[in-house]
Amino acid sequence: MDKLHFFINYLKYNYLKTNEHGLHSPFVFELYNQVFKKNMSFYSYEIVEDIRSQLLSNPVQIQVTDLGAGSGAGRSNLRSIRQITKTAAKNKKYAQLLFRLADHFQPDTILELGTNVGISTMYLAIARSKSRVITIEGCPEIRKIAQENFKQLQLQNIEPVPGNFDTELPKMLATVNTLDLVFFDGNHRKEATLNYFYQCLEKATGSSVFIFDDIYWSKGMTEAWESIKAHPEVSITLDLFQMGIVFFRTGQVKQHFVLKY
Ligand SMILES: C[S@@+](CC[C@H](N)C(=O)[O-])C[C@H]1O[C@@H](n2cnc3c(N)ncnc32)[C@H](O)[C@@H]1O
Repeated sequence: MDKLHFFINYLKYNYLKTNEHGLHSPFVFELYNQVFKKNMSFYSYEIVEDIRSQLLSNPVQIQVTDLGAGSGAGRSNLRSIRQITKTAAKNKKYAQLLFRLADHFQPDTILELGTNVGISTMYLAIARSKSRVITIEGCPEIRKIAQENFKQLQLQNIEPVPGNFDTELPKMLATVNTLDLVFFDGNHRKEATLNYFYQCLEKATGSSVFIFDDIYWSKGMTEAWESIKAHPEVSITLDLFQMGIVFFRTGQVKQHFVLKY
């Protein structure tokens, strides 16, 4: 992570962020109140958080194959399950936002780039049991842990795909008509992120939602985020600092919001 870049942008975000009073778009105003501000607890949260607790107390070490930038856990290839979960899995606040976004938009096809131990995958899958949740992970040992978690929760709607995004994404895209929700959460490099975005864009519709993690992780990631915002097919974007959310709504003026979350 580029710490200076991250810190400067964090200050900017804090200066620019707005709550519902600064939202002039009815779509974003409604989304903010119905999804972002919703702080009631769901039973599903407890089930996934129980699994997170088990993982966070698991000292077993596994061999990690790192195919991307941004694991944040140092250079060693041998890492404990506890350490992997602590450093790579989305925290409760943002993982539960993913759940509420999937619950709100009811996507039929969800794609996740970066399963890791499956925390965000489980939140997405549990939000809508009828959705098809395709999740790609390059590290075989980490993927094994995720699959044990999916089995424990008896989640039938997850399709784990082994391999590198670079080779698996094009093959996977050939099997779907549309992508309703995509969570880009692996290989935090500018060129890779833009490449995955352009490929997924081919399957986007006016109601798709694309979510990018770690948009201020490095200069490259912020440049990728700026290019995505500027893309002519993108209408509304929401900057939450930790994540950027993109909509392709037709007949909508291009607008960018920095949201307090
Ligand atoms: C930040 S973690 C994902 C965390 C997960 N989405 C969550 O919030 O629970 C990113 C994952 O992407 C995987 N990854 C990174 N680059 C990859 C690539 N090029 N191909 C396949 N997997 C990759 C890593 O092995 C890692 O497990």
